Amino acid sequence: MTSVANRTVTAVEEAERHTAHNYHPLPVVIAEAEGAWVTDVDGRRYLDCLAGYSALNFGHRHPGLIAAAREQLDRVTLTSRAFLHDQFGPFCRDLAELTGKDMVLPMNSGAEAVETAIKVARKWGYKVKGVPDGQATIIVADGNFHGRTTTIVSFSTDPEARADYGPYTPGFRVVPYGDLEALRAAIDETTVAVLLEPIQGEAGVLVPPRGYLTGVREACTERRVLFVADEIQSGLGRTGATFACDDEGVVPDMYVLGKALGGGIVPVSAVAADRDVLGVLRPGEHGSTFGGNPLACAVARAVVGLLATGEPQRRAREVGEHLHRRLGELVGHGLTAVRGRGLWAGIDIDPALMTGREASERLMARGVLAKDTHGSTLRLAPPLVVTREEIDGAVDALAEVLKSAGSAG
Ligand SMILES: Cc1ncc(COP(=O)(O)O)c(C=O)c1O
Repeated sequence: MTSVANRTVTAVEEAERHTAHNYHPLPVVIAEAEGAWVTDVDGRRYLDCLAGYSALNFGHRHPGLIAAAREQLDRVTLTSRAFLHDQFGPFCRDLAELTGKDMVLPMNSGAEAVETAIKVARKWGYKVKGVPDGQATIIVADGNFHGRTTTIVSFSTDPEARADYGPYTPGFRVVPYGDLEALRAAIDETTVAVLLEPIQGEAGVLVPPRGYLTGVREACTERRVLFVADEIQSGLGRTGATFACDDEGVVPDMYVLGKALGGGIVPVSAVAADRDVLGVLRPGEHGSTFGGNPLACAVARAVVGLLATGEPQRRAREVGEHLHRRLGELVGHGLTAVRGRGLWAGIDIDPALMTGREASERLMARGVLAKDTHGSTLRLAPPLVVTREEIDGAVDALAEVLKSAGSAG
């Protein structure tokens, strides 16, 4: 820490003293940002290869999104859902069109949207499918990450996320991710939904075997079960398509969206589904004070507008191919595996060289911000506005980090 300039040291110490230690941030204190770059309080610049865990798909302070937010700030920011406002209908209509669904229900955080999907699926199970009261089950995958609420951590298989937070919410069955037979076997007459990430982000950007999502879709249709796709991290352009499910041409019954929907400006999440599913909710049964507020709707509508052009998806595809080609060159040279799609990569560092944490610290020293996930896995998810040259700079920095560790060892 002695080489770190003063403002950074002071800010890190202050945060350590006055906040719960539920995160272990890199010791960088960001003061400004634009596009794919951030600047710290001591004036150092870094390429942001995490992009707020994909909440910043369109880059920091995207001009069109900032303009939409500014305009809305001058008009009205909050009404609560007790009243309607003029941004609500247009946003819901545009998001319904983007998802190809009849209806959407806006919330704030990703976890709230997942909770919404769980409640809607259970209610659909009781009212439409005819599951006996209190017996609904939902199938989830091991290694899942769907958020931090007590119900969601109840079906997490990560001891760090789950231990000490019981008693746990019942009604979930965990099956191995990517194993279609196990999933089929777990479905019975009480099953109301299968809840999955089409690519598991926190688990290390795990892409399931080809045909898995198609098989899940078929199994759900055959057994009258809702396929709920948590596209909070994988969706909205990240993988080179609007949704990761698009890669197999699969349409789930319910999309769960968040992160990038708020344009990196405000928390906005939503579920999208057809009327026969989302229509089960009646007034007073579910909601949130800030869900669907005017500022959120104005920004998220501008986000939907960007995605409707197809441009962010195209960039993610093209620059993403370059990223994966460049990362592939490092396999056998400090990396043991590279996974992912579009501008999203999980890379496994040879554990003999260093941990993921050490790698992210060394990358930071070279002006690249990335974050480890489990053990020696790093996750790269730069904003979709990143250029090939910037990707080259980041991969060159990674190559240097791996090489220096190899020679030191
Ligand atoms: C797939 C997925 N679902 C849900 C969440 C939870 O979102 P939030 O942190 O906004 O509650 C995340 C967050 O990382 C996620 O990656």
